Amino acid sequence: MRRPKITVVGSINMDLTTTFDRMPQKGETLHGTSFATYPGGKGFNQAVAAARFGAEVSMIGAVGGDGFAQSLSLILAEEKISAAGVCSIKDMSTGTATILLTEGDNRIIVVPGANGRVTPEHIEEHRNLVIESDMVLLQLEIPMESVEKTSQIAYEAGVPIILNPAPSKQLSSKLLEKVTYVIPNEAEAADLIAGSTDLHDKLLITKGKQGVMFYSKEGTVQIPGYPVNPVDTTGAGDTFCGILSTCLARGDNLEEACKIANAGSALSVTKSGAQGGMPTEQAVLEFIREKES
Ligand code: RIB
Repeated sequence: MRRPKITVVGSINMDLTTTFDRMPQKGETLHGTSFATYPGGKGFNQAVAAARFGAEVSMIGAVGGDGFAQSLSLILAEEKISAAGVCSIKDMSTGTATILLTEGDNRIIVVPGANGRVTPEHIEEHRNLVIESDMVLLQLEIPMESVEKTSQIAYEAGVPIILNPAPSKQLSSKLLEKVTYVIPNEAEAADLIAGSTDLHDKLLITKGKQGVMFYSKEGTVQIPGYPVNPVDTTGAGDTFCGILSTCLARGDNLEEACKIANAGSALSVTKSGAQGGMPTEQAVLEFIREKES
């Protein structure tokens, strides 16, 4: 079977992750329990999830001119993600995300750095990657005009688009009408539904360990998640988006694709770092078999 071609247009970050027992009060200093750097960025994470699951992945994005850029470029190559659409901007820093892991969840502060220089012109330069894809995957960690530019190119070429509207921002109706599926988490969904026209036929809401829900003609459909003991929840939603897009691009139906992506997402939180636990297709299928036996 031909591998589905996915193009991810989005952010590439170095994640600076600190683990600690509780949030400090204002003005308080606490000892943390660990610190580590991991590859991240919603775009890069989704690209890795799709690639490990078996898609042929190209990325359009940017890194800076620092040491983080070199490490992240090596990882792109190790994951066999085509980086022909990734430029390095010498006078910029690579995007970073300061991640606070405490009380079973994550809090993230992103500094875009070079991700902020993924311009509509840069997308135009790599339009072939977009139009030759089976699916395009977008998030909101690059400038909105570049997200809109990508959606315009993909839409005109008839390439389906998945948008993960994270971090939450106001979305124009001209963007929303072009996307095939929008995949927010519950908080992002609340913002979206508050500010937009009827999105029901394209909305998939991820609900952490409870799985995912969407609307069908028969009503609300809930596809349950898989219980696991989480080590690091960073990137769970990215794993879901990367695997879901691969499944849909190869022709799986929506319910099956959601079930598989839920399983992938559950596995992803069992290891440290956004990409650390992202599974191969074989690992996902074995996990589902084990859970169902
Ligand atoms: O979705 C998780 C990602 O969000 C992290 O890897 C971090 O880089 C931020 O972009």
